[in-house]
Amino acid sequence: MLKERRIVLGVTGGIAAYKAAELVRELVRGGAKVRVIMTDHACRFITPLTFETLSGNPVATDLFRMTGNFEIGHIALAEFAELIVIAPATANLIGKLSAGIADDLLTTVLLAATAPVLVCPAMNAKMYAHPIVRENRARLVSHGYAVLEAGYGELACRTEGQGRLPDPLEIVEEIESLLAQKDLQGEEILITAGPTQEPFDPVRYITNYSSGKMGYALAVMARRRGASVTLISGPTELTAPRGVEFIPVKTALEMRDAVLDHLEKSTVVIKAAAVADYRPAVCQATKIKKKAGPLTVRLERNPDIVSAIGKKKGRRIIVGFAMESDHLVENARAKLMKKGMDFIVANDVTEAGAGFRADTNIIRILDREGSDERFPLMDKLEVAGVILDRVKMVRSGRRIRDER
Ligand code: CTP
Repeated sequence: MLKERRIVLGVTGGIAAYKAAELVRELVRGGAKVRVIMTDHACRFITPLTFETLSGNPVATDLFRMTGNFEIGHIALAEFAELIVIAPATANLIGKLSAGIADDLLTTVLLAATAPVLVCPAMNAKMYAHPIVRENRARLVSHGYAVLEAGYGELACRTEGQGRLPDPLEIVEEIESLLAQKDLQGEEILITAGPTQEPFDPVRYITNYSSGKMGYALAVMARRRGASVTLISGPTELTAPRGVEFIPVKTALEMRDAVLDHLEKSTVVIKAAAVADYRPAVCQATKIKKKAGPLTVRLERNPDIVSAIGKKKGRRIIVGFAMESDHLVENARAKLMKKGMDFIVANDVTEAGAGFRADTNIIRILDREGSDERFPLMDKLEVAGVILDRVKMVRSGRRIRDER
């Protein structure tokens, strides 16, 4: 979470400097306190006034005006920072940092800082591919700097290639991840998400309204908190989260196979997918043509994936979901016990803000010991945080029991 986090943003002189303005907006929107340092070259592309206005703080540009009203010194800036982000980072900045050169305010702050640093390169594709720039990037990584890969696409110099500044939202995600406490490090979390599609001919299928948002939010949060994450997802409109092993599937049978293939190494399994319980008994090879009278499609049962895992549970923590329209607690408790889950996240689809496509959810968590905890309306990322906190509690409970 960005709230009250202290971030120093270094802007260097590339055409992508204007995108740093959007980054500041996103960070400030998230509640972060942002201090911007601009190099002389950056000031040729965009004015300090833009960043001053967006960040609500004076912008630092000059190493030798350290104590004036508008500037704070390089040491103070280095100490202020919980995280330093350089976006865009030119080849020049990357070269200077990797050589330990400190000849302006930004490079001096970078050498004086102990906070983690995120470098977001942006430059012409040929420069980006230059062996010296590559070596410099690798050197930064070997010294513990987080360095994002530049994006592919059209570049300002009217060429195509790799050199674009990553999207500001991707940079924000990386910042969130670097700032998060790594309390799930060592966990291998397998998450299923989205609906499944069960075809009955090449152009038609049965599915449900699941958007996948809850499962993807879990993947994002688990990765931020240091877990290694595998996301097995039915078809959704969402983009695969960064840093997550992503396995797209369509049908329940494919999802089951993917889950079983990845079960071995997992320490936690979270089944957020809305798996279709039935599939057409036959999938026609050619499109079904309409005829007079009704059409009957015979459905047969899909395997229950979570129950199949339950049998191979071992020491894994298994979390399921129950989305109900009536008798929420009774139905959820029955699933929890029958399917060998450690706890179940239950919600009532008929409640406003708790539906399939919403960005929010209202959940309660029921466990095998009989507890039933209710939560208020929350953003799906917050819900994901609460679920992962519960995973941690189950893990620590087990450790304590093991030590006895
Ligand atoms: N689930 C599963 N495989 C299935 C169906 C469901 O793994 N074939 C999992 C879901 O991912 C979820 C949990 O089981 O974590 C409960 O899913 P739900 O559809 O609510 O339960 P069902 O057992 O299918 O019961 P019903 O549809 O009758 O409510």
